[in-house]
Amino acid sequence: MSADDTSTSRALADHYARQATEAPASLDAFWMPFTANKQFKAAPRLLASASGMHYRDVDGNEILDATAGLWCCNAGHARPRIVEAVKKQIETLDFAPNFQMSSPLPFKLAERLAAITPGDLNRVFYTNSGSESVDTALKIALAYHRTRGEGQRTRLIGREKGYHGVGFGGISVGGLPNNRKWFGSLLPGTDHLRHTLDLQRNAFSKGLPPHGIELAEDLERMVALHDASTIAAVIIEPISGSAGVVIPPEGYLQRIREICDRHGILLIFDEVITGFGRLGHAFGAQRFGVVPDLITAAKGITNGCVPMGAVFVSDRVHDAFMHGADNAIDLFHGYTYSGHPLACAAALATLDTYEEENLFDKALSLGGYWQEALHSLKGLPNVIDIRNDGLVGAIELAARPGAPGTRAYDVFTRAFHQGHLLIRVTGDVIALSPPLIVEKPHIDRIVQILADALRATA
Ligand SMILES: Cc1ncc(COP(=O)(O)O)c(C=O)c1O
Repeated sequence: MSADDTSTSRALADHYARQATEAPASLDAFWMPFTANKQFKAAPRLLASASGMHYRDVDGNEILDATAGLWCCNAGHARPRIVEAVKKQIETLDFAPNFQMSSPLPFKLAERLAAITPGDLNRVFYTNSGSESVDTALKIALAYHRTRGEGQRTRLIGREKGYHGVGFGGISVGGLPNNRKWFGSLLPGTDHLRHTLDLQRNAFSKGLPPHGIELAEDLERMVALHDASTIAAVIIEPISGSAGVVIPPEGYLQRIREICDRHGILLIFDEVITGFGRLGHAFGAQRFGVVPDLITAAKGITNGCVPMGAVFVSDRVHDAFMHGADNAIDLFHGYTYSGHPLACAAALATLDTYEEENLFDKALSLGGYWQEALHSLKGLPNVIDIRNDGLVGAIELAARPGAPGTRAYDVFTRAFHQGHLLIRVTGDVIALSPPLIVEKPHIDRIVQILADALRATA
């Protein structure tokens, strides 16, 4: 490389570094997702860089990350192996199609993923997000029954308070009114189990709440109403995150599995947030000792750094599609970016990082400390529940009369601007999910800043 070339590439690198870290001149054109745009743009929070447990904002403040980005950077930020793998990959192969063509990495990654999934969930279908994973899993469930001659099994069962992303399938089986009511009649033929959040009986439970296993019997009620022969699948999050961190009652998921088995209904676990170590195992399925037929995943699969999702499918479900002629396409579904080489490279290096640092054990070794630290906030103003499992936590606040969500939002902005702590709020629930590299001093700081913000918020 000549001296001229070197100085040109340095100038380019400087240009892109500045572009990434300097505040933008205008915030107008970007219509931000799931955001009160007017409110945000009046007092923006802009993150410019990240490393390990911290972000740095455009003003240079170091921000402690108590949410792993958005439940996705489970190994912390800018991890060296992942950075290296992505850099190398983009230089080597920027894109390769996966329709009737492919490249080495999607296969290598699928083998690695199949090795950590529970039971016989050995087949991997790639997507680009949690929402796409959910819609993919629902479609696989419908097509599975049809290919076996049970095409009348079309009903999809979700749950109140469920969050399964924002595709039409996901919002139809989802149970959050705001995500549904704006968007017309949704998919026909869905129904919803009752949710399991029960503050009256279970408030301040440590780990799994003791009451509520009987709510699984709701599925029997649906079978009685619709007949099992019309039901394709049940989709639930082992622990829901975005819907306010709802931890399953003891025995609930096992009971759901039994009822699905009894009636030939496929069980889909939406593990977009519980996957990849959040609960002290690769997946929530292993944490709860329940093997579903399909698992939807995303987020932590690439440590959040390149968009990617996946559906893990049991051999039994997969094999049902393989009875056609050799030249027949077995599933009419897929995305241009299914198995994108950059995402696969990121995912492989992410798995290396999880393994090398035993990060899936972290929620077990630190879970007790995390639990006690969170529950020390009991008794602070407006705190009506604290919930936890693995390295997930939630603090629910009493809603202000006539202004739901505003109290938790004020805690969020106070924690960010004054405490330099990133948390997440959904309604009046503060949701916490730190990167799995979190250590005790970080936990102490998270709890201290939260306590200050809670005390200061009327
Ligand atoms: C359980 C669950 N499913 C699906 C999704 C949607 O994922 P994405 O935002 O990547 O589409 C989320 C996102 O938080 C989730 O928590």
